[in-house]
Amino acid sequence: MAGRILIIGACGQIGTELTLKLREIHGNEEVVASDIREGADDLMKSGPFEILNATDEPKIREVIEKYNIKQVYLMAAMLSATGEKAPMLAWNLNIDSLFHILHLGKEGVIDKIFWPSSIAVFGPTTPKDDTPQITAMEPTTVYGISKQTGERWCEYFFNKFGVDVRSIRYPGIISYKTLPGGGTTDYAIEIFHEAIKNGSYTSFLDKDAALPMMFMDDAIKATVDIMEAPAEKVKVRSSYNLSAISFTPEVLAKEIQKHIPEFKISYEPDFRQQIAESWPSSIDDTPAREDWGWKHQYDLEKMTSVMLDGVKETLKEKA
Ligand SMILES: NC(=O)c1ccc[n+]([C@@H]2O[C@H](COP(=O)([O-])OP(=O)(O)OC[C@H]3O[C@@H](n4cnc5c(N)ncnc54)[C@H](O)[C@@H]3O)[C@@H](O)[C@H]2O)c1
Repeated sequence: MAGRILIIGACGQIGTELTLKLREIHGNEEVVASDIREGADDLMKSGPFEILNATDEPKIREVIEKYNIKQVYLMAAMLSATGEKAPMLAWNLNIDSLFHILHLGKEGVIDKIFWPSSIAVFGPTTPKDDTPQITAMEPTTVYGISKQTGERWCEYFFNKFGVDVRSIRYPGIISYKTLPGGGTTDYAIEIFHEAIKNGSYTSFLDKDAALPMMFMDDAIKATVDIMEAPAEKVKVRSSYNLSAISFTPEVLAKEIQKHIPEFKISYEPDFRQQIAESWPSSIDDTPAREDWGWKHQYDLEKMTSVMLDGVKETLKEKA
């Protein structure tokens, strides 16, 4: 490969699995992981790692030069629930880091950028069901505002300066290898851990809070697919809608009960319920499917069964 890949925020929920997948595809030495903290053993031991703050522009340049980096995946961000507790920190991290990378693209230092957006770009005025690619977007969280702003800047840098930046609006991502980082959809991961450990779970979202979700393997596949697609196929340069499954806490609990019949769920909605209510219930991702062939593989049944096995295994390893 001409030039290596740098992942910023590699130790997070998505970054960890993305790094491992990209190392599998391109070779361990070709994929440099970085974060403000160290991560899981398999990530730290399988290839190069640098401590790197996504807002430290000179250090980003230094790392890019040191390893001859040509592609950057910018995964560092402050997520929806955490962002509401520290709005200015969330804004500064989410926006400053993106500008640093877009400018490196504009200067021709790097050739390709992946930057994830989120369903948080949508708001209460957005049509809730089958939310279209182009629609009303009035986000109410600082996280959503930062992602929507980021989308506009991505498109701007593509149109004005030809920066090859690619993006998808991830729904809630469900995984068992790395714990989630403070989002509104984290309940859909906690529920598996608690079901196995205690046989019960108190959900911080209401029983009928339907949200778009996706199993991690699908999210990683989408990320790899959009980055590998020929440039002319990536027609949306703000961010693509991306969809797989959509369910409520109650529906997920029923699916878990098929495996653990004694599992009990109760509901104590907190501030995250309000965030959930402002987001779509399901997403129409036709442009992603038509433009670069996106297709998900995990439905609710398959995801639930893989999650239960995966969480059991993870808990056993920790014991
Ligand atoms: N997980 C989801 O459900 C979801 C949904 C929609 C969008 N996204 C987006 O995907 C991306 C990755 O999300 P995630 O779930 O892996 O998040 P996460 O919180 O699990 O991971 C973020 C990582 O960034 C690191 N980080 C924080 N501040 C940093 C800084 N200043 N410099 C460098 N690294 C820093 C953290 O240490 C962490 O390892 C984010 O942009 C997020 O907004 C995630």
